[in-house]
Amino acid sequence: MIVKLNDILPAARKKGYAVGHFNTSNLEITQAIIKAAEELTSPVIVGVSEKAIIYAGLVTIAKTIRSLGQSSKIPVVLHLDHGRDFDIVRKCIDVGFTSVMIDGSYLPFKENLKLTKRVVKYAHKRNVSVEAEIGRLAGIEDGVESASGIYTDPEEAERFADEAHCDALAVAIGTSHGAYKFKGKPRLRIDILKEIAKRVKIPLVLHGASGVKSKWVNYANKYGAKIENVSGVPDHLIKEAIKNGISKINVDTDLRIAFTAGIREFLSKNPEEFDPRKILNHGRQMVIKTVRERILLFGSAGKGSY
Ligand code: G3H
Ligand code: 13P
Ligand code: ZN
Repeated sequence: MIVKLNDILPAARKKGYAVGHFNTSNLEITQAIIKAAEELTSPVIVGVSEKAIIYAGLVTIAKTIRSLGQSSKIPVVLHLDHGRDFDIVRKCIDVGFTSVMIDGSYLPFKENLKLTKRVVKYAHKRNVSVEAEIGRLAGIEDGVESASGIYTDPEEAERFADEAHCDALAVAIGTSHGAYKFKGKPRLRIDILKEIAKRVKIPLVLHGASGVKSKWVNYANKYGAKIENVSGVPDHLIKEAIKNGISKINVDTDLRIAFTAGIREFLSKNPEEFDPRKILNHGRQMVIKTVRERILLFGSAGKGSY
């Protein structure tokens, strides 16, 4: 069934597990995300970024996810990832998204708050949940490494959550988007997270949480990829984050690696094959495996019976 963020996250926060948010941009990845969650009876959040919307088309991707979600027996959230302005949020809500992220983290505090409040007012009237963000993730945009991130200030987070009335809050504690997260030893500011969790009672969100496991990277490289010097968030830090208040965990990079690696393997073993269904199916199988591994780590298996 299709549900909103607020139908599944408060229980996760209360009981100490996290629900996986997995990004998609096509049919096969969406099917794989929902299939893996179904196999483990887990709730799941299907994330669509603005770039994914440009790639797939807003109505097409929204209807695809809604229809797969509606015919599933587990709770599925159709969620806008990193919406940058009111206009994209409004379009997504109007086409049937059940949850939106308004990412005003690039704005000064006051403006981020003002924008988030406007989104909350529009969304809540239409029974849609809102994730907001405070603090900034470091990361790679269009291949260019951006300036270092800014950790979330716990006091600001408390004020923001109290005033914005959003349903979930993304915080910056040392992760970044993409496959190159840490220069040296992976480290998260669990101390900051603890302080935020003391002050903010709504579910907290960790972006940039892919594991970028060498098992998957080596598999991709074996079949022709050149993915080098990568670094993801190790499992023990994910567990530590969940233990200290993170209830939603965003994963995209791991799925991209698994999907393309599966396709590479199939093509290299079957050079005579040109049926896209067979080729994409192998990528889809690898995404199922990856999502399964992440859900087991996040502890939401078995929490999806409604
Ligand atoms: O948070 C960022 C996600 O990985 C989405 O990436 O904007 O390239 O679709 P994208
Ligand atoms: P990764 O790049 O670590 O998969 O993060 C994805 C994300 O935060 C999507 O919002
Ligand atoms: Zn993100």
